[in-house]
Amino acid sequence: MSKKFPEGFLWGAATASHQIEGGLINNWVKWEEKNATRLSKDGQRPSNEALKEVACDPENYKSNSSYSCDSYKYWERDIEAIKKLNLKAYRLSVEWSRIQPERGVFDSKEIEYYRKYLKALRDNNIKIVLTCWHWTIPVWLDEEGGLLSKNIYKYFNEYVSFLAKELGEYVDYWIVINEPESFAASYLLGMWPPGIKNPFLFHKVFKKVLPKMYIDSYKTIKDIDKGSKVSLAKNVWHVSSCSRAPWNRFVAFLFDRYMTVSIMDQVVKYTDFLGINFYFHNRLGIRGLRNDNDIISDLGWWLDPGKIFNVLVKIKERYNKPIFITENGLATLDDNKRIWWIEETVKAMDKAIKEESVELMGYLHWSLLDNFEWDKGFWPKFGLVSVDPQTKERRIKRSGEFYSKIIKENGII
Ligand code: NOJ
Repeated sequence: MSKKFPEGFLWGAATASHQIEGGLINNWVKWEEKNATRLSKDGQRPSNEALKEVACDPENYKSNSSYSCDSYKYWERDIEAIKKLNLKAYRLSVEWSRIQPERGVFDSKEIEYYRKYLKALRDNNIKIVLTCWHWTIPVWLDEEGGLLSKNIYKYFNEYVSFLAKELGEYVDYWIVINEPESFAASYLLGMWPPGIKNPFLFHKVFKKVLPKMYIDSYKTIKDIDKGSKVSLAKNVWHVSSCSRAPWNRFVAFLFDRYMTVSIMDQVVKYTDFLGINFYFHNRLGIRGLRNDNDIISDLGWWLDPGKIFNVLVKIKERYNKPIFITENGLATLDDNKRIWWIEETVKAMDKAIKEESVELMGYLHWSLLDNFEWDKGFWPKFGLVSVDPQTKERRIKRSGEFYSKIIKENGII
């Protein structure tokens, strides 16, 4: 049966500044400098043998290293790749540390860079999904306590207000913050800067700081432009219980309430659509994760792409708002696996639209490029397009061609 998508469906891809730009000075770069050697020795190992060597190289853990995509320099190459793929939409983020290198200072040269970039996208008829903040912060703010600074709301609001005034004319969809739960989890697990492990701070950042940063900025953007479309990108896991035992079911229920439902309930009133990132189906129980599938990514993540259907239906039933998949993908060297993932995802989205009347606006694949994956470095390959470490040439992968054909046909026919 043909799987044609609604007219105007926004097929696209996503990236984030820290993961592709290179040449940055922010809190994460400082953290990488300190932790690269440790991560190259004790960090997570890829499940694919072929990636082990690069995972042992400290340079792999530095976003400014020779492995970098250098998109700040080669942004036009990214636009070329976007055009070759025939994308209708592109999600990118602005790097806060470039815009405000010092407290109270807004850098007009850097805003010009993003303006030029957005203008080129618009001239090529590509819809722009702009993320204001994808996890990295300026060094001066880090020194003031980062998200725990007493001035965080004021600083963030000033920054977002500046972006809305300077770049608003180009932006089709705003994503104010990315994956609040993943970012906040680093305050519980300590795997990312600031390297704190404190359950109370985790709760505070997740339930108070991030929602308030988001809601204040939502109002600010709307004050500047009533017609703008604003949301956040929320990572929603499909969670199921690892057995029928009531205690395991209860754990799965609690996880979902805490990580997804409670925060979505808090912010949903301040959204014009719902940005959803989907990567995981996980089985949970009192003993933690109990996955048992043998199809895994190079990061060891359990791959179950069809579960995007369950997530779409669940979000629709509870919130009944248009949904935009703002990220979805997998880390793999095996491009056949990526092709399989994309095909399964497209089928599941089609089913959600046709059988459950989910109002789905678009789908952004993570990622446009093979890029820098936070505490893992450059070895996880999420891209539709590879980047040559020496020449920085972009090369469309077979999965990119496969996706591009889906876009041309607006589905699978
Ligand atoms: C979600 C994050 O937004 C993105 O930065 C990250 O690279 C992907 N997940 C893959 O882990």
